[in-house]
Amino acid sequence: MSSPMLREPRDRTLAPARGRILEIGFGTGRNLTHYPPTVRRIEAIDPDADLDRLSLPRIAHAAIDVDFHHLNAEHLPFEDARFDTVVSTFTLCSIPDVVHALGEVRRVLKPGGQFLFLEHGRSPDPKVARWQDRLNRAWMPLAGGCHLNRPMRSLIEDAGAEVRRVHGGRGGEEKRIAVISFSCCIA
Ligand SMILES: C[S@@+](CC[C@H](N)C(=O)[O-])C[C@H]1O[C@@H](n2cnc3c(N)ncnc32)[C@H](O)[C@@H]1O
Repeated sequence: MSSPMLREPRDRTLAPARGRILEIGFGTGRNLTHYPPTVRRIEAIDPDADLDRLSLPRIAHAAIDVDFHHLNAEHLPFEDARFDTVVSTFTLCSIPDVVHALGEVRRVLKPGGQFLFLEHGRSPDPKVARWQDRLNRAWMPLAGGCHLNRPMRSLIEDAGAEVRRVHGGRGGEEKRIAVISFSCCIA
């Protein structure tokens, strides 16, 4: 997820970030340099303490303040309607109970708040999706629990969000094995 090809999609995904912001699945902090300059502070969560050796130096040198917590997105300790923006990049594929986590995202977003995401997921091409299903079992343990075949758009819509903007990867919207979409969703 450190590819230079992802710099521009990260910039575009995070461009609308505003207000009180929560990033779920912070990882090694790759998004820190992609927030717009108007963002001065974010809250961020990730359960994996092994990533601290990479994320904490990035936090220390970042232009924005990061209030970081080791937490799962399935159980957020924040009050309802706390955030204006929730961000997820390449994280919904790895969260074990993604339906529960998306319910939490919706709960902590203010009405009218935005969920900004950049994710890969299930291809709409049945031939590709069949391969994703076949490979998934072998792939998951090798890739930190990442699922290749989650239907991201419908998972997000089923959580009660209205998808306002979707951008597919090269080859058109949602046509590739690694679907890349970014979007604003209104809770
Ligand atoms: C592929 S990495 C993406 C990291 C970062 N968002 C990026 O764009 O580079 C997936 C991240 O999801 C995190 N993750 C796994 N389970 C999670 C959970 N239950 N709640 C929140 N984050 C989780 C992992 O620890 C990991 O940092």
